[in-house]
Amino acid sequence: MTQLRPTTVIVDLEALRRNFVATRQFVGPRVRVLAAVKGDAYGHGAVASARALATAGCDAFGVALVEEGAQLRDAGVDGLVLCMGGVGRFGAEEAVARQLTPVLYDEGDAERLDAAARRSGQRLAVHVKVDTGMGRLGVPLHHYPRFLDRLAHFDALDVEGLMTHFAESEADDPTFTREQLRRFRQAVATTRARGYHPRVIHAANSGAVLRHPDAHLDLVRPGIMLYGEPPAPGVAVEPVMRVVTRVLFVKDLPRGASVSYGRRFVTARPSRIATLPLGYADGLPRAVSGRAQVIVNGRRCDVVGTVCMDLCMVDVTDLAEPVESGDEVVIIGKVGTVEVRASEVASWAGTIPYEILCGFSERVPRRHEGGT
Ligand SMILES: Cc1ncc(COP(=O)(O)O)c(C=O)c1O
Repeated sequence: MTQLRPTTVIVDLEALRRNFVATRQFVGPRVRVLAAVKGDAYGHGAVASARALATAGCDAFGVALVEEGAQLRDAGVDGLVLCMGGVGRFGAEEAVARQLTPVLYDEGDAERLDAAARRSGQRLAVHVKVDTGMGRLGVPLHHYPRFLDRLAHFDALDVEGLMTHFAESEADDPTFTREQLRRFRQAVATTRARGYHPRVIHAANSGAVLRHPDAHLDLVRPGIMLYGEPPAPGVAVEPVMRVVTRVLFVKDLPRGASVSYGRRFVTARPSRIATLPLGYADGLPRAVSGRAQVIVNGRRCDVVGTVCMDLCMVDVTDLAEPVESGDEVVIIGKVGTVEVRASEVASWAGTIPYEILCGFSERVPRRHEGGT
């Protein structure tokens, strides 16, 4: 069906490519850049984003799920596709069939992957993950020597990579990241001492790309900075996502009228209120109620009252030009010099830009611009 509603996520693939090139230049020619495209490329559309990145020279992609990797392969994306969440109990066959590269941290997964690789008649490259302080996935360091001993039984697995993940690389205080890196170097030494020689050692997410050059190692794994929301300064990147809609309905209300559920906003003066066809089912968090601003006809206007599932309301009383149904409204993006960034929406919602970008739901069409 053709798009009937105006609420749209517009993805600037040229900007994504520029951000990738800027990141690659920043880390230098000896460091490979794996683009994190998990979570539907942080809401930007995994297939379109990976294809665009590939045309800029990106040959390594990070997904969380086997299903996400399979989606990229179905779309013809070549190169390294790293399943960063591992393959779980049921993903081994599919990972082997699609030539995905699993992240390995679990003996059961190793057994299943080894068996699946044997059945396929080929060795399977894996990246072993050690937990140096994130406390999420990864072999705990005190189990690591034993894990490596177990791995020796699985001939069909080729330990191509060794990785870890940082818990707070974007933080001003570098102490814990340095400690994680120290532990990781020790794990690398342990790995080599046991006769494994992984060719790709990696650790850095965006925070570490920007703040910890000594963590760049063989490959970096930026995500959020490629989408234009760097967690620290250092590389000039630009937002990739714009979110736009159009005014659905305008009404004039007298002083003392309440707006939306819970009557949390009451007009203090005769007011012109615009209703927008966008709510929390689309990805505008209810938590921004009474805090957010959007750009209407080039000016910031307050979102007033509670954000509803499908709609929200904006006070457009102060705009010089009378607002009409159909006027464009920018939720995230720039109009002239006026800009609302995902990070600002995140601060209104009490969250991080990752969650805002990922949060625009499937019912909001993506329009990719600048594709090849
Ligand atoms: C294992 C791993 N590497 C890299 C990234 C990319 O992180 P960021 O978006 O902070 O650059 C993520 C995302 O959380 C991740 O889980």
